[in-house]
Amino acid sequence: MKKINVAIDGPAGAGKSTLSRRAAEELGFIYIDTGALYRTVGLNAMRKGADLDSSQSIADTLTDDVKVELRFIDGEQRVFLSGEDVSDKIRTPEASVAASKVSAVPAVRAFLFDLQKQLARENDCIMDGRDIGTVVLPDADVKIFLTASPEARAQRRYQELLEKGMTVNYEDVLSDMIKRDYDDSHREIAPLKQADDAILCDNGDLDLQQSVDLIIRTIKENI
Ligand code: DC
Repeated sequence: MKKINVAIDGPAGAGKSTLSRRAAEELGFIYIDTGALYRTVGLNAMRKGADLDSSQSIADTLTDDVKVELRFIDGEQRVFLSGEDVSDKIRTPEASVAASKVSAVPAVRAFLFDLQKQLARENDCIMDGRDIGTVVLPDADVKIFLTASPEARAQRRYQELLEKGMTVNYEDVLSDMIKRDYDDSHREIAPLKQADDAILCDNGDLDLQQSVDLIIRTIKENI
């Protein structure tokens, strides 16, 4: 039977992963975090000493032995690089930068495309990313573009960093957010943009529970 696929795209800091995970739990779907796949390719490129400013150097790290896999252990997504569980190692600031660099390389996007398609074919899922509704799953049953103003997203990220005990300046967080938005939406390949048939959800004025409710309601009403 055809599986139900929900695509959730949007800029950094909109809460995509938290909300997708919560909605997937509620609906009994699996949650697929495609950012983790790009992070894993970034980690592989870093480990192999690639020049992250060179597309060719990054593409050269995708040798035949490189295998990126998702496994679902007790319902939780774990990501494996050639058999090694790298789920925690991909969350460092260096891996974030590497992920961002490799995600602009066409060979990397092609490398991950089939894996994402296959996962969606085999599972009722909520898949989140930047180009899920536009490129990976253009026929998704429901497409959501989740966003909030840069100020609202920066304020949340700022609070998170303060709670982690980091010394940060709100203006710096905001200018980073604006720069990432620009880079994500202006890159040549698979730029971040709302699919024509995606439902726009702005959660700038909503708290976490209200945002979760909005996403679940939107999915249920449109499946
Ligand atoms: O969502 P995240 O921060 O884990 O994503 C890591 C990087 O990968 C980020 O720079 C955007 C990129 N990405 C992408 O280009 N396409 C996706 N479908 C998912 C993430």
